[in-house]
Amino acid sequence: MSKPFSDTSVRLDFFVSHTLGLSRKDAKVLITKGQISVNDTVTKKANHTVTHQDLVKHRDDLLAWPRDKYFVLNKPAGYVCATEDGQHPVVLDLIATHEQKDLRVVGRLDMDTTGLLLLTTDGQWLHRITSPKSDCFKQYRVWCADDITDEAIKQLELGVQLKSEEQPTKPAKVVRVTSHEILLSISEGKYHQVKRMLAALGNKVVRLHRESIAEVALGDLEEGQYRELTDAEVALF
Ligand code: URA
Repeated sequence: MSKPFSDTSVRLDFFVSHTLGLSRKDAKVLITKGQISVNDTVTKKANHTVTHQDLVKHRDDLLAWPRDKYFVLNKPAGYVCATEDGQHPVVLDLIATHEQKDLRVVGRLDMDTTGLLLLTTDGQWLHRITSPKSDCFKQYRVWCADDITDEAIKQLELGVQLKSEEQPTKPAKVVRVTSHEILLSISEGKYHQVKRMLAALGNKVVRLHRESIAEVALGDLEEGQYRELTDAEVALF
């Protein structure tokens, strides 16, 4: 996968080829012809590295760094959270083709889970959300096969010991909706965490829908639709 621009410095020929839509070979030609300057100094080295602080020009034209992309998608059931899969449709299929380049999925929802999914080209932003140190709450609407007892809710709030994990889950926030439905907010993202938490309490999740991550919510986004995040939403993480 190619490296997102915001991650680090990039080679000058890579930068020129992306910003001018040229092949790497043609970008090198421009550089060796002396048509590219970095901070007003002509630079003929294709392997010179540039960062966001550098002003790169083609003759007198400033070459703008591509902006990272940040999307929120309302994922339907039946889609895999991946950029490709041999068998099933993937969430990237729901994004317009011209927006797909370098887009990565932020965390995973199971194929049968619906709801809020973030996608971005910004690797550092993605890492801040998915890192085990991240403590942002993700809220799920959880429907269960059996009654969710008051005792089970207390356990979820205190922490549940999952199979093959050393530590119990971190305290969750729970709001009861009906006898079989709760709103569950968790700050971790272990594999199949919600289903395993309810299974550890002797219940079974029959439907799962993610409503929000921190203050980013689906609002009136229809299933299968997506939108760009606002600058304020991007700045939350
Ligand atoms: N927890 C699960 O069990 N599944 C999901 O898709 C998300 C959280």
